Amino acid sequence: MGSIVAFVNMKGGVGKTTTTINLAACLAKDYNKRVLIVDLDSQINATLSLMSPVQFAKLKKDHKTLRNLVKQSVSKQTKPRWAPTEIIQTNLCGINGLDILPGDIELYEDFVLADIIYERSQGKRDNFLECWQEMEDNLLKQILRPLAPMYDFVLLDFSPGDHLMTRSGILASDYYVIPAKPEPLSVVGIGILQGRIKQFKDNQRSTIELLGITFTSLGRTTKMAGQVQERLERDFGKTSLFRTAIPINVAIARAVDFYKPVVLTEPKSTGAKAYKRLANEFLYRWQQHIKVPDSPKPEAES
Ligand SMILES: Nc1ncnc2c1ncn2[C@@H]1O[C@H](COP(=O)(O)OP(=O)(O)OP(=O)(O)O)[C@@H](O)[C@H]1O
Ligand SMILES: [Mg+2]
Repeated sequence: MGSIVAFVNMKGGVGKTTTTINLAACLAKDYNKRVLIVDLDSQINATLSLMSPVQFAKLKKDHKTLRNLVKQSVSKQTKPRWAPTEIIQTNLCGINGLDILPGDIELYEDFVLADIIYERSQGKRDNFLECWQEMEDNLLKQILRPLAPMYDFVLLDFSPGDHLMTRSGILASDYYVIPAKPEPLSVVGIGILQGRIKQFKDNQRSTIELLGITFTSLGRTTKMAGQVQERLERDFGKTSLFRTAIPINVAIARAVDFYKPVVLTEPKSTGAKAYKRLANEFLYRWQQHIKVPDSPKPEAES
């Protein structure tokens, strides 16, 4: 059974998408893992980091995006038109085992979901809250859980903010990674996320476990970055931070123009090397969590 891993932070622009696609590429290419990326963000950044807008336009025209699975899931059609395997795009960027469930700029509309929930609640307020919760609990779980046995990892790329889709993604996940910039507002975004997750756990709605917080866009070591690190270690534990931090590296941003992750476009860049180390550490941490005996120690940082 594959693990479903959320790459999530309530704060925007912190490297969620970049981390998801580069880790996915490293896990598939360097470790022969079968990896499915799920683009839960209507900005479709993960999708467009791995295929051209022309390729995406064709998929959208053919209804081969996550939107159609979401529609099916909420409408509870007894005979769904689409099987997820018809929509999943395989072997991206020529890497065996690197697949994606493409996102959609019209992933779902709030008012459509609210309308469905209202209908199910038969106009009663108490029922409405219950039906809303049921939607959060099951919307993405119904789509993703049947896919997990086909993969080693299902990696979810989230949009920023706390939406129904974010909550449904967290509720469908086994583990989570928090990409964060070493800035004070990151601590705020992480705090909000942790509060939400605590709520889910207190209500027995989730058993999700934190694999770690990873610093992205690390510039020169500053006093501020040190203070943020201390604060996170104090709040979330000494081992909560990945040892690997991703440096600021223009090769990472440049890769997007080639619709490929930096580990493929410029594998010798500092950004690509950091992502390779992060993949190694990610696997180590994951193995510790699922308690695989004799898991190899992560490579020493170079
Ligand atoms: N280490 C880095 N060095 C340089 N540029 C980076 C680095 N990491 C990410 N970027 C660039 O910063 C921008 C934001 O990164 P990314 O899209 O991964 O963040 P995000 O958290 O997914 O954003 P959003 O919240 O909008 O989904 C992108 O243009 C990306 O190419
Ligand atoms: Mg993103």
